[in-house]
Amino acid sequence: MNDANIGSVVVDEQELQQRISELGKEITSDYQAHPPLLVGVLKGAFMFMSDLARAIDLPVEFDFMAVSSYGSATRTSGVVRIMKDLDLDLTDRHVLVVEDIVDSGLTLAYLRKNLKARGTASIEVCALLVKEGLQKVDPDLRYVGFRIPPTFVIGYGLDVAEEYRNLPYIAEYAGPLAP
Ligand code: IMP
Ligand code: MG
Repeated sequence: MNDANIGSVVVDEQELQQRISELGKEITSDYQAHPPLLVGVLKGAFMFMSDLARAIDLPVEFDFMAVSSYGSATRTSGVVRIMKDLDLDLTDRHVLVVEDIVDSGLTLAYLRKNLKARGTASIEVCALLVKEGLQKVDPDLRYVGFRIPPTFVIGYGLDVAEEYRNLPYIAEYAGPLAP
């Protein structure tokens, strides 16, 4: 895509797919005894979830939830609202939350608490990206794709005002930032 707002590439397509295949193998081996229920956090995680699920050689199930953090487009406030809840009951399920990116970690902290209260057997998190040094709470991530510098990134599910989600790689966002 030829667009001046797409900055330098942070993780290219080949690196993404290579790492996702490794994560899939790890998850496959860790969850042999009890295949996970994958919980994708919409919308950002949809592409990662789709590739990751195909890299897991187990009979996984899927569910999705949509959350929105109040605040500006490029910053989070830590106040999270559930826009779409899960369809499935989590009682005694081994839940693997699939997240696109952990910034402050506040969204994840909220999610973990909320899901745990539903009587899960276990909850772990697989985050594609973690921004280095920004976490306000310990995000306790079982699986991490890449640790990246704390700049705003787009692509592979991640957006700015709903744009750029379909880039097959992760790039820095070089456009104007929200106030
Ligand atoms: P946190 O609560 O600060 O960890 O923010 C997490 C959420 O903010 C992510 O799930 C994304 O939806 C969004 N977000 C954080 N950083 C970025 C970014 O660099 N690009 C796109 N979305 C982001
Ligand atoms: Mg997200």
